[in-house]
Amino acid sequence: MKVRSNLSLDSIAAGLDAGRRSALEAVRHLAEEEGVPVFLVGGPVRDALLGMPVLDLDFSVVGDATAFASRLRDRLAGRLTVHPQFSTATVNSQGVRVDLVTARSETYRNPGALPIVKPGSIGDDLVRRDFTINAMALPVSPEGTGVLDSSGGLDDLQRGVIKILHGRSFVDDPTRMLRAVRYEQRFGFRIDSGTMISLAAVRDAGLMESVSGDRWRHELERILEEGRPGPPLLRAMELGLLEGIHPALSKGDGLRRLATQPPESVGPHHWLASLFASLSEAEGEGVIEKFRLPGSRADIARDTILLRDSEGAISDTDSASELVRMLSGVRPEAVSTWAMLTENPRVAAVLGQFPEKLRCAKTALSGRELLAMGVPEGPAVGTILGRIREARLDGLVNGEEEERALALSLVSECQAALRGRDDGRDTY
Ligand code: CTP
Repeated sequence: MKVRSNLSLDSIAAGLDAGRRSALEAVRHLAEEEGVPVFLVGGPVRDALLGMPVLDLDFSVVGDATAFASRLRDRLAGRLTVHPQFSTATVNSQGVRVDLVTARSETYRNPGALPIVKPGSIGDDLVRRDFTINAMALPVSPEGTGVLDSSGGLDDLQRGVIKILHGRSFVDDPTRMLRAVRYEQRFGFRIDSGTMISLAAVRDAGLMESVSGDRWRHELERILEEGRPGPPLLRAMELGLLEGIHPALSKGDGLRRLATQPPESVGPHHWLASLFASLSEAEGEGVIEKFRLPGSRADIARDTILLRDSEGAISDTDSASELVRMLSGVRPEAVSTWAMLTENPRVAAVLGQFPEKLRCAKTALSGRELLAMGVPEGPAVGTILGRIREARLDGLVNGEEEERALALSLVSECQAALRGRDDGRDTY
């Protein structure tokens, strides 16, 4: 991998967009004025060395990052969020996010538990990190020295290697195993052999179970946010990491099938849904609970399982209106996922055309027009519109004129029924 040999803050600043550049300048000026040592650290240094665009602004402050961040917030007229437990803070200003951590050392009492943090030097702050390529820093103030790299990060960037900094890294924090796969696939690197041995040992020792579902979900979301989530998900499955998070995730048919689709037609929701494609309902609920998936994502997962189990009925349906009834309330993301995953060509075609069918099902007549035609306000309006929609879907009426004719006959049916009710007979 070609890595930049001379990296300076000015060269990074020159490559930033205007918003990020002024945020970086504000951090630099504040650090100089206050005499606080501040370093650009982790992802931005790695990406700048790789000649990639720097999108994250992550800083390590030797001192109190939260106090520094609050002064930065004043200067940028931004919004401040503080995480006191870890002495970290985020300033958001005009769409730019600046993350600041207090330089610290970390100790882990139990595998998978959150670390106990103690303020420390920039050296401490680098060696507590996940991988050598993420353990480099560039001084913002005082400026002068080049990249700080005590763990061989530059070398590993050049060789294209993902390597942990010490043997207990995955024991301390098993979520780093998913991070390793994410970086490996994002950059086309390989995981170093010692790191791979460590990964297998932590996976086989069952240490992944000790990590909270929230933390796994966070790492899963990070994968789903990648430009191409498929390769890291497949790799995580191949390495037994998904199974380590929940045993049902060893069933990777959905992932494998989705990976055969053109990448540009597959979005994050499809990848998420594909994890559930081969699961039973009970297993699906187990995985939803494990990741503590929020409402909409949980619904996509459940609906994917439901669609798989409804394949027979979908395939047997000839009537478009019946299909719409069957799929009403099913998340569109699940429909488009199952359209890609099903091995039944008829189901693929029916589901693939479903959004277009729904769009065409929109009636030309509105509820207001029905009211003008004499339908009383209330549920009858929705009922009549629904019947027109069904007739439209099944090709029984075409165009506004025919809709109007059907509406008129339904309206008189409705009025007759209402008269009947008033006479103490039938109800509509
Ligand atoms: N980090 C870590 N262990 C974790 C998570 C994060 O050591 N479980 C460290 C890494 O050094 C990382 C830094 O915290 O560089 C910031 O984390 P994050 O924002 O997740 O990483 P980035 O390197 O910015 O990654 P990305 O490019 O995906 O944004």
